[in-house]
Amino acid sequence: MDRESLTLVSHSVSETRQLGAFLSQLLEGQEVICLEGELGTGKTTLIQAIGDALGVSEAITSPTFTLVNEYYSRTGTLYHVDLYRLDSIGEIVQAGIDGFFYADGICVIEWAEKARGILPAECLYIMLKHEGEEQRSISIQAKGQRYCQLLRRLRKALEY
Ligand SMILES: Nc1ncnc2c1ncn2[C@@H]1O[C@H](COP(=O)(O)OP(=O)(O)OP(=O)(O)O)[C@@H](O)[C@H]1O
Ligand SMILES: [Mg+2]
Repeated sequence: MDRESLTLVSHSVSETRQLGAFLSQLLEGQEVICLEGELGTGKTTLIQAIGDALGVSEAITSPTFTLVNEYYSRTGTLYHVDLYRLDSIGEIVQAGIDGFFYADGICVIEWAEKARGILPAECLYIMLKHEGEEQRSISIQAKGQRYCQLLRRLRKALEY
């Protein structure tokens, strides 16, 4: 399967938000974006920026009691899944969360590492790491032809 990757460094919340804004411009409405990384690395920050850029009018907050929040955006539905509170693939499947990975809309998954094995074969992975108080290393990996093309477009957009 086609694969592409890109690693960059964010030096601030606004740089992370800018990445989300650039990415959102390339989304068509049927994507799965898997966010991985420790607490406080910027996963929610990234999805908030994506939502803002897609015209979501509600404030995006991490799903607390529900595991999935649903928003209406310019490109259709935006699903925000947060797997933090789930501990196994069995729990994820039992809660019916895997259905959202194949739903009609954009699905952004926080703590996607917990769903390894049941994620769609083709998706965009964004792995965030702490590198200091405000510095984050952000590694993006595309799996599948369509996401590789998306990542090549993102690379171009970030170059200018
Ligand atoms: N470069 C940066 N990018 C993103 N967030 C940053 C950056 N520098 C500092 N921060 C801070 O890190 C925190 C990131 O919080 P956020 O809720 O987005 O993380 P998270 O990965 O969703 O955490 P959790 O696993 O708890 O859901 C915020 O307090 C933000 O201000
Ligand atoms: Mg979060």
